[in-house]
Amino acid sequence: MWLKTSLNLLFYFVLCHGSKEFRLGRSKNGNLGVPGEYSGEKVPPAQWFKQKLDHFSPTDLRSWKQRYYINDSFYDYKNPGPIFLMIGGEGPADPRWMVKGAWIDYAKKFNALCINLEHRYYGASHPTEDLSTKNLQYLSSAQALADLANFITAMNDKLKLNREVKWVAFGGSYPGSLAAWLRMKYPHLVHASVSSSGPLLAKVNFMEYFEVVVNALREKTGSEDCVNQLRNAHAQIEGLIKTQPEEIENEFRTCMPFSKATENDMKNFFNSIADDFADLVQYNEDNRISADTKYRNITINSVCKLLTEPGDEAPYKRLAAFNSIMLNKSNQTCLDYSYNNMINDLRNTSLSSEGGRQWMYQTCTEFGFYQTSSGEVNIFGDHFKLDFFVQQCQDVFGKKFNKEFIENAAEWSNSYYGGLDIAVDRVVFVHGSVDPWHALGITTTKDNNAPAIYIHGTAHCANMYPASENDLPQLTEARVEIQQYLDTWLSQP
Ligand SMILES: *[C@@H]1O[C@H](CO)[C@@H](O)[C@H](O)[C@H]1NC(C)=O
Ligand SMILES: *[C@@H]1O[C@H](CO)[C@@H](O)[C@H](O)[C@H]1NC(C)=O
Ligand SMILES: *[C@@H]1O[C@H](CO)[C@@H](O)[C@H](O)[C@H]1NC(C)=O
Ligand SMILES: *[C@@H]1O[C@H](CO)[C@@H](O)[C@H](O)[C@H]1NC(C)=O
Ligand SMILES: *[C@@H]1O[C@H](CO)[C@@H](O)[C@H](O)[C@H]1NC(C)=O
Repeated sequence: MWLKTSLNLLFYFVLCHGSKEFRLGRSKNGNLGVPGEYSGEKVPPAQWFKQKLDHFSPTDLRSWKQRYYINDSFYDYKNPGPIFLMIGGEGPADPRWMVKGAWIDYAKKFNALCINLEHRYYGASHPTEDLSTKNLQYLSSAQALADLANFITAMNDKLKLNREVKWVAFGGSYPGSLAAWLRMKYPHLVHASVSSSGPLLAKVNFMEYFEVVVNALREKTGSEDCVNQLRNAHAQIEGLIKTQPEEIENEFRTCMPFSKATENDMKNFFNSIADDFADLVQYNEDNRISADTKYRNITINSVCKLLTEPGDEAPYKRLAAFNSIMLNKSNQTCLDYSYNNMINDLRNTSLSSEGGRQWMYQTCTEFGFYQTSSGEVNIFGDHFKLDFFVQQCQDVFGKKFNKEFIENAAEWSNSYYGGLDIAVDRVVFVHGSVDPWHALGITTTKDNNAPAIYIHGTAHCANMYPASENDLPQLTEARVEIQQYLDTWLSQP
């Protein structure tokens, strides 16, 4: 059963689905489950849809229950507007989606019916009794899209919708890709899509990720200082680990001494430190509705200030101070960089997994997306190369998930969906320059029927959050532009 989850951890996952898993492809500590009560706004109750287990096997009649939410407050059943469908991603569907966010503002404007369908295998939508590797065979983006198509068809019947009613798909991050793919694969069911921060290109060695992270530090601070300090800090860590390991153990609050660490533990250690920066950049200054106020001031600019402000403190100590903030933020008493602990968590086939295992399965069988240290900006050290991530797939799911397997899988995804050459219309692709995922998405308009909006200075899925007075003008402008596209497309037959 689902464990009762701490709300703050939950808040972290609000809106742009699954966020942390999406970035890491592995789980950190914490049990993210179905939300219990809410203190604030009233949200609609969960509903359940009888869904097919395997859409690609007509003779297999097994079914399961898929969770969804509806907000019909803006909708007039007698004079129906469009139907807005928020696509669930690699984490539990959060019903607060149903009352807040940019799409709700659009829904008010267009008198839309709002529906959010949870993605199979995440949250409370369990197609199988556990998450064994055998049972995960029905977890794929293609099955998820078929779920959506089946759901839309059934809803059209249930709500007795006439042919005039238009469905518009929304999604951010992986669901951003799903929104575009849904329009491409089922154009007769979906009229238009808003695809936010979607990585359309499957890429096994996603080394560009950390290149964008480093560029974002430059872009946001307007100087090279922060990057230089980070490079210095890493060089010091590499040196001190050999000469004074206890110093790094203490400063970085490691759970175990380096003398006990294996080679994989060390890769994991360096990966963890780099991931703090990934975290910082990917979610920089966004408007997650419930982000922990205590940590709201942890931004690229404040952390770079910490790293570069005048003083005698050594760069590695400053980096350690940031590491400490991030540990406290996730309530970890020490930095657990044990490879085996991580693998054991991911091997857990219990349904209460918050999504790390499932998302990792999708990376191993469909997308890759491994954020390796092999990019040009080598400031985090070159310790987590592709082989480290391939080994994780094999250690978690079995020997057969080797490099060739993963590369073939990603290649097939690109054949199946078209990668960056996707052929669609009435889809708007939205990205932010500070979001590392934009490197795998469409950021320039090649076809006016499938335009791109590239927002300078914003992070992952920034356009999906509720507007705030601190928003950059180009972000405000992007939300308006999206609404104009919707206006145009909804007036087309
Ligand atoms: C960390 O612990 C505090 C105090 O117990 C709690 O309020 C908070 O929700 C926890 N945060 C996370 C991310 O679990
Ligand atoms: C729909 O969203 C609006 C705006 O947040 C909210 O006031 C309303 O209560 C919601 N309706 C339902 C049925 O949840
Ligand atoms: C964030 O604000 C708290 C006070 O609320 C302060 O103690 C902390 O130093 C600030 N952190 C940064 C990185 O500016
Ligand atoms: C982190 O938490 C520990 C233990 O509560 C505390 O001593 C320390 O000051 C905190 N560090 C930061 C950077 O917030
Ligand atoms: C698997 O995860 C569940 C839920 O978090 C936990 O109760 C169980 O002890 C874990 N099993 C193992 C073998 O670690």
